[in-house]
Amino acid sequence: MCGIVGFTGNKQAAPVLLDGLSKLEYRGYDSAGIAVRNGDKEPEIIKEKGKLKVLAEMTDYGRAVEGCCGIGHTRWATHGEPSAVNAHPHASDDLNVIAVHNGIIENYQELREKLMKHGYTFKSQTDTEVAVKLIDYYYKKYAPLPIEAIARSMVRIRGSYALCVMFKDYPGEIYCARKDSPMIIGIADGESYVASDVPAILKYTRSVYYIGNMEIAKLEKGAVTFYNIDSEVIEKPVTEIKWDAESAEKGGYEHFMLKEIHEQPKVIRDTINSVVTEGVVHFDSINLTDGEMQAIEQVYIVACGSAYHVGVAVQYVIEELTSLQVRVELASEFRYRKMTLNKKSLVIVISQSGETADTLAALREAKEQGIKTLGIVNVVGSSIAREADNVFYTLAGPEISVATTKAYSCQLVAGYLLALQFAKARNEITDEKYEALLQEIYSIPEKVERILEDKERLQWFSAKLINVSDSFFIGRGIDYAIGMEGSLKLKEISYIHSEAYAAGELKHGPISLIENGTIVIAVVTQTALTEKTVSNMVEVKSRGAKLMAVTTAGNYFLEDTAEFTCYVPKIEPMFAGSLSVIPLQLLSYYVSIGKGFDVDKPRNLAKSVTVE
Ligand code: F6R
Repeated sequence: MCGIVGFTGNKQAAPVLLDGLSKLEYRGYDSAGIAVRNGDKEPEIIKEKGKLKVLAEMTDYGRAVEGCCGIGHTRWATHGEPSAVNAHPHASDDLNVIAVHNGIIENYQELREKLMKHGYTFKSQTDTEVAVKLIDYYYKKYAPLPIEAIARSMVRIRGSYALCVMFKDYPGEIYCARKDSPMIIGIADGESYVASDVPAILKYTRSVYYIGNMEIAKLEKGAVTFYNIDSEVIEKPVTEIKWDAESAEKGGYEHFMLKEIHEQPKVIRDTINSVVTEGVVHFDSINLTDGEMQAIEQVYIVACGSAYHVGVAVQYVIEELTSLQVRVELASEFRYRKMTLNKKSLVIVISQSGETADTLAALREAKEQGIKTLGIVNVVGSSIAREADNVFYTLAGPEISVATTKAYSCQLVAGYLLALQFAKARNEITDEKYEALLQEIYSIPEKVERILEDKERLQWFSAKLINVSDSFFIGRGIDYAIGMEGSLKLKEISYIHSEAYAAGELKHGPISLIENGTIVIAVVTQTALTEKTVSNMVEVKSRGAKLMAVTTAGNYFLEDTAEFTCYVPKIEPMFAGSLSVIPLQLLSYYVSIGKGFDVDKPRNLAKSVTVE
């Protein structure tokens, strides 16, 4: 969603803001703007609809804008269409307060009316302009102190926000406030930065502070002071970012998505090694003891999008290995459902960003009901990571492409390891089987590498999908879960309509959609279910479908039915999803670039969905 960058120091701010915003482009946006202050002079506000390039050209890449303190923003429209007027920064009419904002202010209508009664007028349709004018109102009504004015506004505002504010009377200072929207602060020698995400500032500093919910920060050159909502100074620890700037660059690949697909062997291995030592899973870092695992009676897995698909696959694995009851829920449904949760449950929330609004709300709902929570999260210090009782960090590193690949794969193995440990802690698995399954999990990275080596065949097949308008993914059990992910990947980056069906469901309606030339992609790795899925493949083939199969090496008989067969190495079927998803990721990638789309930044999508 929206991206925020702020800088105060001794160098020109605008080039830093534009550079930082370019690192946040992956979040999705439709307009961009910056505001820069040059001491006591009138600030410059430049904003425009469209790509950052437009803004860069308007300002000679920032060089034409004088001043060492500024804030910048890429906007993903929520309230009001994408336009220069609605783009951020927004300012009070006398330029007393200038701000950028990420999030949604739910009661903005009510606040707008209140402000109008006090003589304020509004130029844009945004909720942000309301926040700016509310801060201005409190600043002028009470003592003209930025922290006080922001704190009073925070008490009145309902919703989510990451706000960066500049006050006319305080040149060289930036004030930040946060509630349920991501924002980090970076400090270097004589320089301070604020951004929605680490990649924006990694070039300049690795020393990062995580500003908490309902907290305020004052940035001066090279210094930051934190305050709570009562305007009291609070201390916060600094975190050193371990990954390097190159991790967030394309590193020779044409697109982030392709780079991230290729990183999968390494990041899967890193994630496994983070909890497995000498052939045993240790959850010390996660703080989950065997005793706690024994006491759990029910598991809920809650997530959105691809992370939900991970949950569906992991559900099968937990059920296969343990006697635990497992339920997988879409976070957007779970959070509003009137459901009595078993008090002896574990709610597992899965999220790459750790900021997805619905998943975060689901986590809070579970905590409110007194249920133990575990987050499987990629972004260190994210809201879910901070609020969950226990955290299993996936070590995917920064994922820039909007369509997830490497984080998805890390979440899957994290799920396998959890399932395995549940089985062990609850004495539901023999030592031999435990060791054998762990060996199988260990084999995943190398097998993924082998699939990646053979990607040219998929590129060839992808050409057949360029002109199709509909496609279907079918499978049973874990293959169905992987089909759901394959289908989402294809639709989100190539804009081809796609549905995933449990193969056994075809006869209950969807088969009527099959006609001559309809693309059907079957995932067939679950040995016990292979014959059943093959019958479904034959049924759609006899109605004219063009079939592709992703299957395990050895299932050569599938070539009698499928027009194109892609083989993945043999593995314990429970973990086959980690392999069969790779050709599907590659296929979607090649179809998208074949159609000439911006594969890393698909239309209408944002990397981190911080609003409902
Ligand atoms: C699809 C995709 C999304 C995310 C979903 C949840 O490729 O990336 O469906 O999986 O938005 O995001 P996180 O994992 O950040 O909670």
